[in-house]
Amino acid sequence: MIRDSAPLVLGIETSCDETGVGIVRGHTLLADAIASSVDQHARFGGVVPEVASRAHLEAMTATVDRALAEAGVALRDVDAFAVTAGPGLPGALMVGVAAAKAYALALGKPLYGVNHLAAHVCVDQLEHGPLPKPCVALLVSGGHSSLLLVPDVASDVRSLGGTVDDAAGEAFDKVARVLDLGFPGGPVIDRMARDGDPAAIPFPRGKYNDGTYDFSFSGLKTAVARWVEARERAGEPVPVADVSASFQEAVVDVLTRKALKVCKDNGVRDLLIGGGVAANSRLRALAAERCEAAGVRLRVPRPKLCTDNGAMVAALGAELVASGLAPSGLDVPADSSLPIQTVAL
Ligand code: KG4
Ligand code: ZN
Repeated sequence: MIRDSAPLVLGIETSCDETGVGIVRGHTLLADAIASSVDQHARFGGVVPEVASRAHLEAMTATVDRALAEAGVALRDVDAFAVTAGPGLPGALMVGVAAAKAYALALGKPLYGVNHLAAHVCVDQLEHGPLPKPCVALLVSGGHSSLLLVPDVASDVRSLGGTVDDAAGEAFDKVARVLDLGFPGGPVIDRMARDGDPAAIPFPRGKYNDGTYDFSFSGLKTAVARWVEARERAGEPVPVADVSASFQEAVVDVLTRKALKVCKDNGVRDLLIGGGVAANSRLRALAAERCEAAGVRLRVPRPKLCTDNGAMVAALGAELVASGLAPSGLDVPADSSLPIQTVAL
């Protein structure tokens, strides 16, 4: 039940290359403003931390103003501020945390320093309503590939597994570089793969049957690079669509297999997928297929809520307020390696 009296929460996200400012009231999304510095990183083939920090600084107040205008509210109407305190790039996080402190201090409102990964989970409440307790979350982004058991997103998030090397999104970005497809790699590989055969090349599926909830994508990435190099050495054209489709299939096959294993082993019937890679059309389709076969309900936020944004931070802030958790205080640090179990600082 959404009440007009639920607190108005403004969330700030600056952990990587998106300056995100979201405004929510309870589970209702009122604004989701984004300024991305992705174009400034493209020629480097990856996010350059110093460039990202500078871009956050330049975009911050304008993005806050844009979010307020979109929501039709004034800064003084905001009841609480939330900010990503970690994990993420240290300098980039510091810009958001400093800005959130300044707003909270100037307006005399509470401040919540929150975990970026828990925010990726919580954002789904804005689209699909309250999260089932417990649920399993598969978080796949440029920095993380995690399997979480979530009894309560405001207070109890447990890590069951993660990548031992590259994150899933990182593998997409590196393979896109090998194929000269630009940065970020995920969206363009997703597009190219639509015209390719996912069974054309049997790329390896790391840790497929090892009994753990961990992932490994670095062997796959290397296998793709070797395969492409061999074609080039032989003077043969590289079938970009088939390589994209076969690589993508290897990633999503192992992601969905392990996510459903966590559900089965823990008797959980709800799976949520979040993070930038959750925007992948094949991951969404295969997860839907396998969840249905296993009798598991699947929740995936719309693509704009999957990639980094401020709404997810506001959503988690609102959840913390609703749970009656104490705010963080103005000395809250930016912690680049904040562990997932720490939902709020
Ligand atoms: O969550 P996110 O926006 O930022 C991080 O916290 O990292 O995720 C960005 C990652 C990038 O690696 C990007 O290539 C990947 O998400 N990504 C995708 C797709 N859209 C974005 N990967 C696969 N398919 C997509 N459609
Ligand atoms: Zn993220």
